[in-house]
Amino acid sequence: MAVITLDQPASVGIAPARPRWKTDAHPLPEQLTPADLARWFDEIYQEADREHLRVPWDLGQPSPALRAWLNAEAPGLVRPGGRVAVCGCGVGHDAVELINRGYDVCAFDCSQSAINIAKRTYPQHADRFSVGDLCDPPSRFRHRFDLLVDVGTIQSAPPALWEQFVRSMVELLGPHGALLVICEGREGGTPLDEAAGPPYPPTADEVTSAAAIAGLRPTREMDDFLDDGEPPRRILRGAFTRS
Ligand SMILES: C[S@@+](CC[C@H](N)C(=O)[O-])C[C@H]1O[C@@H](n2cnc3c(N)ncnc32)[C@H](O)[C@@H]1O
Repeated sequence: MAVITLDQPASVGIAPARPRWKTDAHPLPEQLTPADLARWFDEIYQEADREHLRVPWDLGQPSPALRAWLNAEAPGLVRPGGRVAVCGCGVGHDAVELINRGYDVCAFDCSQSAINIAKRTYPQHADRFSVGDLCDPPSRFRHRFDLLVDVGTIQSAPPALWEQFVRSMVELLGPHGALLVICEGREGGTPLDEAAGPPYPPTADEVTSAAAIAGLRPTREMDDFLDDGEPPRRILRGAFTRS
């Protein structure tokens, strides 16, 4: 039986409850490897595709936090038409938002099923989507991008993998490239309930520390705000560069 809940916009102006990511139908081992996670995500995308449902984290549109950042801050950091990678692109809405704004976009996800959905949803941009493991990226992606966009990939991995994920993201950046992280966040000083994840929302300090280990500094303090979902989620957003 399908366990993923449909998260369609309500027609009467009431925001729908957010579906949970984790269900009994998709258990995860305790010591997670990137390969375990990739398999877990692929199963969920496969099931959603089969049952014509939306995966729990799919907003059905580009991330509003990404759009706002692209309007306000990208022009000061990324050249028009610059090369942008979207890692963990899921079903592709954010990648297409970037394409529509004139960036030269490569979007990848470890899940073949997610990429199938993205290509089917956006056939005119199918050539921009490919299967790729962030932890072992294709060599043609290395040191290539002006901007790497991560919406929700870091938070999908447990803390033990955050450093590896961020290091891999940085490997894809050119010398003056920037990393944009948008994720669910946790208040500083509060413990993370790892048994409840994924997701595993980091604090702003945890994201900033992982970036620092990978040689990046924040362009300014990370944004930390509540989105307008039901219930509202705490969102962290920040750009990081080598300078
Ligand atoms: C929470 S989902 C977010 C998807 C999309 N960015 C969105 O906002 O809808 C996290 C995504 O990261 C992908 N992912 C997890 N580990 C990955 C890895 N090692 N390499 C590439 N993608 C990965 C998953 O398949 C999944 O699509």
